[in-house]
Amino acid sequence: MSDEYLDLTGTDAVRVLTITRPEKLNALNRATLAALHARLETLAADPALRVLIVTGAGTKAFVAGADISEFEGLTPAEAASYARVGQAVFDRLESLPVPTIAAINGYALGGGCELALACTFRLVADTARLGLPETSLGLIPGFGGTQRLARAIGRQQALELILTGRQVDADEAVRLGLALRAVPAATLMDAAQALAAQLAARAPVALRYAREAMAGGLDRPLADGLAAEARLFGLAAATADMREGVRAFLEKRQAVFTGR
Ligand code: COA
Repeated sequence: MSDEYLDLTGTDAVRVLTITRPEKLNALNRATLAALHARLETLAADPALRVLIVTGAGTKAFVAGADISEFEGLTPAEAASYARVGQAVFDRLESLPVPTIAAINGYALGGGCELALACTFRLVADTARLGLPETSLGLIPGFGGTQRLARAIGRQQALELILTGRQVDADEAVRLGLALRAVPAATLMDAAQALAAQLAARAPVALRYAREAMAGGLDRPLADGLAAEARLFGLAAATADMREGVRAFLEKRQAVFTGR
């Protein structure tokens, strides 16, 4: 399924969503953001979906940022509302009921890095470069970068990357904890599919509750996090998949999860 700037392929369980504007290094213009938001709404309601992989068309870029050509002449109010639009799209992505994998096949700059930060996992090709260069345009990250980068890699490292605009390569992205793994560019999609297959074999509701229990991360009081964990542990125990998982273990067979 494809529209002007997006392409959706794959099986019912593992879908690959590709930003397809390679002539502009997949820069996110307003039309692409709107298409992405609409597509994510549909995917959020799809009970067959288990994992979503997000990537960029071509070999050069994942997404080279928001479309800079749309910045000129923005009033402060328009710019703030534009940031809100991008934030809403990435919030929709982050809050999908299934885990997501950014397969970063090249430049992931500005809004591209922020798109990746809204995914559950980031896999990087050895050719990738990541960064938040907005301050070089006299701007700041506006699609969640000031919030999610610090949560991903810590405040000090995030401050350096945001205030200097420095790009990092794949190895440094892994060292910083910004990416899970770096792989040769030619094997990136295979690596993403292998991780997706592992995730798709697990109980979907358990994955959702585990992510929900971890949301908010280290920012909330431990007691609140533990209370959420216990509540979600209780909810997981009410699922058919929990009964199946336990029974399969006792019967020494592979569990077959249905998502209920
Ligand atoms: N917005 C709009 N257009 C973009 C873009 C962006 N963020 N990033 C790349 N493009 C366009 C270029 O304008 C160019 O279009 P053209 O062929 O019509 O002139 C095309 O994509 C190819 O990019 P180009 O700059 O020629 O490639 P390069 O290999 O020389 O450089 C980058 C690659 C990523 C270093 C460079 O494109 C760049 O710095 N992009 C902007 C990154 C950025 O600041 N992102 C944050 C935005 S908030």
